[in-house]
Amino acid sequence: MTKRTAFVTGGGSGIGRASAQAFARSGMNVVIADISEEAAKSVAAELSALGAQALGLRCDITDEDQVRDAIRQTAAHFGSLDVLVNSAGLDLNRELVDISVEDWRRIMDINVTGSFLCMKHARPLMVEKRYGRIVCLGSSSGIYGMGWPAYSAAKAAVVGLALSAARELAPFGVTVNVVAPGPTETPLSLGLWANNPGRRERLESTVPVGRVAKADEIAGAVAYLASENAGFVTGSTLVIDGGLTSLMRVPAAPPASNA
Ligand SMILES: NC(=O)c1ccc[n+]([C@@H]2O[C@H](COP(=O)([O-])OP(=O)(O)OC[C@H]3O[C@@H](n4cnc5c(N)ncnc54)[C@H](O)[C@@H]3O)[C@@H](O)[C@H]2O)c1
Repeated sequence: MTKRTAFVTGGGSGIGRASAQAFARSGMNVVIADISEEAAKSVAAELSALGAQALGLRCDITDEDQVRDAIRQTAAHFGSLDVLVNSAGLDLNRELVDISVEDWRRIMDINVTGSFLCMKHARPLMVEKRYGRIVCLGSSSGIYGMGWPAYSAAKAAVVGLALSAARELAPFGVTVNVVAPGPTETPLSLGLWANNPGRRERLESTVPVGRVAKADEIAGAVAYLASENAGFVTGSTLVIDGGLTSLMRVPAAPPASNA
């Protein structure tokens, strides 16, 4: 079987790193593209120690020239780009009243524009090979608005982007899907919870399974959607939220007169 190459944005930490590790364990070549060069190189070294061919690149996904260049380097180094995982993302704990236009744009830039730019520049390589798997990290916030407004809006936009791209790319053997995690323990969420005392505990008491997710549990879903076996899955959003969605399906209590 062809040795596939995965390009993971935000692969220097959290869910991106766990996804990169899953790809390395399955024998794929892996490119870690992260705004932190140190994190990208350190994860690439970890993957090399697992026996994978890995490359760590500094890339700010909000900058089109950097994205174009990182994808060019991937093609030059490995000869292909078969899997794109858009995991780089950012949340800021700001309510509507507090969010500045600069912060709003930053959230949109990293979560939405960055995903779009990586898809745009990976597309020609995938279309040429008539094969590709694109997995975007959405969030339960973008499905039922449980997070802060800018982040929820950005993650809902990621779903729309993936749906349209799935339709555009289906004739070329390229699938596009979204994994939408609920609260997951990573450096991103640990930082947000540290700034909001009691938030983690409130989440854990709300999630039906009684805990937050581990990054590896999300990476397992990313790895499935990125696999050869998932060729018939496209335009889907896989919500992994410990049962939070099921709470939205509980019917309201009947009026007392019918009880
Ligand atoms: N942790 C959660 O609870 C949770 C829940 C739902 C969705 N998500 C989503 O999963 C994805 C991964 O989140 P995580 O929790 O692993 O976060 P994380 O902070 O642990 O990792 C994000 C990585 O993205 C990199 N990054 C940030 N801006 C970048 C940029 N402009 N260009 C390139 N790299 C950049 C960071 O350096 C970091 O290495 C994000 O899209 C996030 O929104 C996370």
